[in-house]
Amino acid sequence: MGKVTVLDHPLIQHKLTLLRRKDTTSMAFRQLLTEITMLMGYEITRDLPLEEAPIQTPLGFMKGAILSGKKIALVPVLRAGLGMVDGLLNLIPGARVGHMGLYRDPKTLKPVEYYCKMPKDLEERDIIILDPMLATGGSLDATIQSLKDRGAKSIRCLCLIGAPEGIKKVQDSHPDVDIYLAAIDEGLDENSYILPGIGDAGDRIFGTK
Ligand code: PRP
Ligand code: URA
Repeated sequence: MGKVTVLDHPLIQHKLTLLRRKDTTSMAFRQLLTEITMLMGYEITRDLPLEEAPIQTPLGFMKGAILSGKKIALVPVLRAGLGMVDGLLNLIPGARVGHMGLYRDPKTLKPVEYYCKMPKDLEERDIIILDPMLATGGSLDATIQSLKDRGAKSIRCLCLIGAPEGIKKVQDSHPDVDIYLAAIDEGLDENSYILPGIGDAGDRIFGTK
């Protein structure tokens, strides 16, 4: 079973509360989402392997340490996942970015794929999927499956808020995938929006609707 981890660092929780507020502007929402993603990114990259790197400083020789192991690819789920890209690229500027275009059909609630552009060597990369909202789990489930169909072997998900039913769906379908969140909320409303949640993440980031 994949691990589900709620990142409860006080700064993450403080900023999440500010972001949730109805009167938070799109500008502030984007800024807070970037800051939260950086803080979450710092936590989820703790296990990245290091290798020795001999370097010359102005005053002498030393054995430094640099990241080793597999290269990273970020995969934001459009649109809302785009709001999390800068936060992680600030930490890992060399990461490749693949884009997964999916929207949730408002009637069927099923994910509809409309765009996909990935780095070529997906199977050799550690992939971090970015999507603030994990509601029914349909979009994340479809994204993970689509990446696996393209050869991905190492996938983890970074979300802001999850509903218990969506988390369960992804865990059941993809037991090899770990999920990191800032909060697990109560559940879904009749339109499958997360309660109390933040409303429509894409609309809040981009000021649409
Ligand atoms: C939102 C969100 C997720 C999806 C979650 O995207 O960013 O991708 O809904 O819902 P699910 O878990 O029930 O599938 P949305 O479909 O609203 O598209 P948008 O980001 O383009 O607005
Ligand atoms: N998508 C969103 O943007 N918000 C939700 O609460 C659920 C799905």
